[in-house]
Amino acid sequence: MNTRATSPSGAGSESRGGAASASLFARAQRVIPGGVSSPVRAFKSVGGTPVFFKRGEGAHVVDEDGNRYVDYCLAWGPLILGHAHPAVVEATISAARDGLAFGTCHRREAELAELILEAFPWADRARFVVSGTEAVLTAVRLARAHTGRRLLLKFSGCYHGHVDALMVKAGSGVATLGLAESAGVTETVAHDTVVAPLADQAALREVFATYGSQIAAAILEPLPANNGLLEQERAWLATLRELTTASGSLLIFDEVITGFRFGFHGYGKVVDVRPDLSTLGKIIGGGLPVGGVVGPAAILDKLAPLGPVYQAGTMAGNPVALAAGVATLRELRSGAVHQHLEGLGARLSERAKARGLTLARVGGVFWPVLDGGSIPHRAEDIRDGAVQAFKARYARWLDAGIYLPPSAYEVGFLSAAHQPEHIDALVDALAGG
Ligand SMILES: Cc1ncc(COP(=O)(O)O)c(C=O)c1O
Repeated sequence: MNTRATSPSGAGSESRGGAASASLFARAQRVIPGGVSSPVRAFKSVGGTPVFFKRGEGAHVVDEDGNRYVDYCLAWGPLILGHAHPAVVEATISAARDGLAFGTCHRREAELAELILEAFPWADRARFVVSGTEAVLTAVRLARAHTGRRLLLKFSGCYHGHVDALMVKAGSGVATLGLAESAGVTETVAHDTVVAPLADQAALREVFATYGSQIAAAILEPLPANNGLLEQERAWLATLRELTTASGSLLIFDEVITGFRFGFHGYGKVVDVRPDLSTLGKIIGGGLPVGGVVGPAAILDKLAPLGPVYQAGTMAGNPVALAAGVATLRELRSGAVHQHLEGLGARLSERAKARGLTLARVGGVFWPVLDGGSIPHRAEDIRDGAVQAFKARYARWLDAGIYLPPSAYEVGFLSAAHQPEHIDALVDALAGG
């Protein structure tokens, strides 16, 4: 897609996402469905062929053609310290030297659990899995077992991994049972999920009036960040807390993106709303595959071997992955990284505003809204014009050495390695592209 003859990085290659990426993509497509291990990587939302990366260094990535980009995708969020942070790499290598996997108990499980529970003081236990999807799967199973109820409540615009029960979209009307969002999800499964809009008090009350006594758990991203950045009012989250408590349902905060992102805590602390369970992923693995569920002993101890809820994994709590997580959380503990991210974020908001750009932002997470309209707070309010504007400019951003997540619906991330000049380059690209 990029035909630029010069490289801003001075690497001298013919094009961004150039010949090497194109050839690797063609090869991958022959043996992997769509050539990708996860669909959004295919660049379908922005056109062109995906860029194949071979190296990450701090705030930068280098592609197979030798082009260098400032990375605002950061592996979709785990790399809050930037690529290949020395402390994380050292911890990972050292753990790997001691053995890649044991499939037994080892010291790092308690080490990481203790660090996490320090940040989630309302929780007594953490159980580790391999991905955010698995964390959600486990939390949902626990909630159903704990309450003895069947229904789940989710909110349109929130993503919780590819769990069947949550690959569900709203039917017509507010308080309706869900419809399958993916082929292969059965109607029966979809009908066990109720879908409601975000930012709508009346809809929330209607759902609980209709289904409250049957809802095992309401699950949401407390700061929805998978369909744009749809910040919710605290009052709405507090109402959800009240309604779940009153109806005996659990409240699950899916903090796979938000956990440890805005401080050494969850987003629940930011909005002062306490869930019954939280799911974690991304940052707690420092770039390696780790997911987790945290909550009170009264719920978590229902997991096998103590209780009747089954959950297991050959790779769950892998020692190398947990070493990366421990090293990452230790770096975050002082709060200096979060301060840096807030400083960069404030600069981004300020500079964007000065250039007439609309941008949603919380801490080091941002989402450009490029049609010049207002910032939406519900998935239904995202305008096609903003999506098209993002798509139209994407190739030019690559040409300028700016790597944003390749979809208008995805948020961008900043890391400890990003510096003010990276913010200014981003604003120039967004404003000029
Ligand atoms: C809020 C949220 N929950 C769950 C998931 C699924 O996590 P994973 O991709 O690790 O399975 C994601 C992934 O982006 C997420 O953002």
